Amino acid sequence: MKITVLREAAEGERRVAATPETVKKFISLGADLAVESGAGLSASIADADYEAAGATVGPRESVVKDAGIVLGVQGPDPEVLTGAAPGALVVAGLNPFGERARVDAYAGAGVEALAMEFMPRITRAQSMDILSSQSNLAGYKAVLDAAAEYGRAFPMMMTAAGTISAARVFVMGVGVAGLQAIATARRLGAQVSATDVRAATKEQIESLGAKAIFVEKVAGIEGEGTGGYATEMSDEYKTAQAELVSSHIAKQDIVITTALIPGRPAPRLISDAQLQTMRPGSVIVDLAVEQGGNVEGAVAGEIVERHGVKIVGHRNVPSRLAADASALFSRNLYNFLSAFWDAETKQPVLPDDDEIVKGVRLTRGGKVVNERLIG
Ligand code: NAI
Repeated sequence: MKITVLREAAEGERRVAATPETVKKFISLGADLAVESGAGLSASIADADYEAAGATVGPRESVVKDAGIVLGVQGPDPEVLTGAAPGALVVAGLNPFGERARVDAYAGAGVEALAMEFMPRITRAQSMDILSSQSNLAGYKAVLDAAAEYGRAFPMMMTAAGTISAARVFVMGVGVAGLQAIATARRLGAQVSATDVRAATKEQIESLGAKAIFVEKVAGIEGEGTGGYATEMSDEYKTAQAELVSSHIAKQDIVITTALIPGRPAPRLISDAQLQTMRPGSVIVDLAVEQGGNVEGAVAGEIVERHGVKIVGHRNVPSRLAADASALFSRNLYNFLSAFWDAETKQPVLPDDDEIVKGVRLTRGGKVVNERLIG
């Protein structure tokens, strides 16, 4: 079984889908690894490192030729797959809702596309979950990005010249990214508060030493749908949340927003009017900016200033920590494929009735087969 690792083609994508560590692990399962020249450079991995791990390195056409599995961080252009073995597995983050036409093209090309962001949230799949591994790093980096834009220090400092007070950081959306943002801001010495619609996060916030800011006494506060994800909240809840945020946000120096609802645009959490109540020099980092943004006025790929407040809207935040993000992403892919590896035939066998396979498989036998896309 030939496994190919592509050099990412998307603009600004610095990650890579395999590291020398996972290359070695795949080889020990009996696979042959072929890495496109320069694939790891922006994640600080040289071609020679892949060769030392046992892979062959070469131009795209030669590494794709006869590949049985093609690994990517983002979905490759279907044309790139010309020459791969019939029915080859394409394993990557494929953005199935955003890139629906490309999914159809994978079906047309006769490859089996497996979208890693559709990994079900079950215990068995935790080590394969790219959304978790990448969100964790994004939450950390969001706080560092905020600190870099903020013209003041995070910790309280008592100096001979006087005392500097601690920055007040408010984290909105306490999933994987939000929890890491709280922990990181605490480590930097900030005074941290946080909010979420899922009642279960209250205890998690408090256990990290932050203050929980929650809407009370409004129906639907559980806020949790399937797979631990949030649901759309009632209008009554949204009004109560807006009031709560308005009174809290004026006292904050830094706000990190991470709120997402699967399959919908990101919920709007901060309006322009609320922004105006913040102190000049405050910083907001909107991690949901690519899904429509939690903050009015946030622009994907830009740092904008409104009413003296900087709104940071970096795209693809995990890619800003390319080496670690690649290491974790690569292990997610390895953990997935190795869990289904057949030792005798030295290739993965993906049973139709497996919950993980049903979740991630988008195309097979020339057709789109995923129920989230055709249902
Ligand atoms: P996410 O990225 O979909 O959303 C981020 C956060 O925003 C969530 O906590 C969500 O409740 C919150 N949110 C949504 N709308 C909001 C609003 N209007 N106001 C405030 N907050 C809002 O979520 P993520 O980080 O992917 O994780 C969600 C849950 O899934 C967590 O409980 C996590 O522990 C669980 N999980 C389970 C896994 C497994 O069992 N394999 C793997 C990863 C996460």
